[in-house]
Amino acid sequence: MQRDIAAIEEMERPDADPALLERTYAQFRLVNLVVSGWRGVYVRLVRPQLPRRGTGTILDIGCGGGDIALALLRWARADGYDVRVLGIDPDARAHDFSTRAAASAGCGEPGVEFRRATSSELVAEGASFDVVVSNHVLHHLDPPQLAGVLADSQRLARGLAIHSDIRRRRSALLLFGLATLPLAGSSYIRRDGLTSIRRSYTRDELSRVLPPGWQAHPQGPYRNLAIWHAEARMAP
Ligand SMILES: C[S@@+](CC[C@H](N)C(=O)[O-])C[C@H]1O[C@@H](n2cnc3c(N)ncnc32)[C@H](O)[C@@H]1O
Repeated sequence: MQRDIAAIEEMERPDADPALLERTYAQFRLVNLVVSGWRGVYVRLVRPQLPRRGTGTILDIGCGGGDIALALLRWARADGYDVRVLGIDPDARAHDFSTRAAASAGCGEPGVEFRRATSSELVAEGASFDVVVSNHVLHHLDPPQLAGVLADSQRLARGLAIHSDIRRRRSALLLFGLATLPLAGSSYIRRDGLTSIRRSYTRDELSRVLPPGWQAHPQGPYRNLAIWHAEARMAP
């Protein structure tokens, strides 16, 4: 199955239906809980980068509805870390949703902040974070955007950058299509999820598009992690 880079996700359209889009952001939380495996990524990769003393910082690029940023904040706090999480997204509709989600979860600043911003704006501000993450963003990006987000991640991450995404497999289409049948028509989740699988990379494809210093790791049968360690900055 070839990568379908021409396929467009409905939620990306400026004229996307506001009610369907709202439910899409809301359902991201459930979908991410079931398919994204961030609890394991937090325990294995994010948590070891957080300082035991002082304040740890995490950046979520393309945070969408903000559920992963909020989950990282909750997990880190439950583990006794003082942590600040910033979620950024260039889409005003995502920013609006995530800001409301943080308020209704009772997680306001300084614990979590959501900004309508790009990673390059943060680089221009001279920002940096212990850990930089994204979820389901890489497959959205065209080659120059991908190169830009990865280069920005290297500049912004003091410890580790982790971009988690779907791995393209025919069986993923079948399983996701079946599992999300009950959600069909209520949001863009099912349709855009299937498009995302078609747009996503195999592990080999991801390895080939990652710049030096990055590695593509499999995470279970259906996901890839693109990982960059700040020590790579020092490598010859
Ligand atoms: C499928 S959504 C994923 C949202 C969220 N990370 C999640 O997993 O639920 C992809 C998000 O990436 C954002 N996005 C698209 N292009 C981007 C870019 N160049 N930099 C940062 N975010 C981008 C979109 O606005 C959208 O909110």
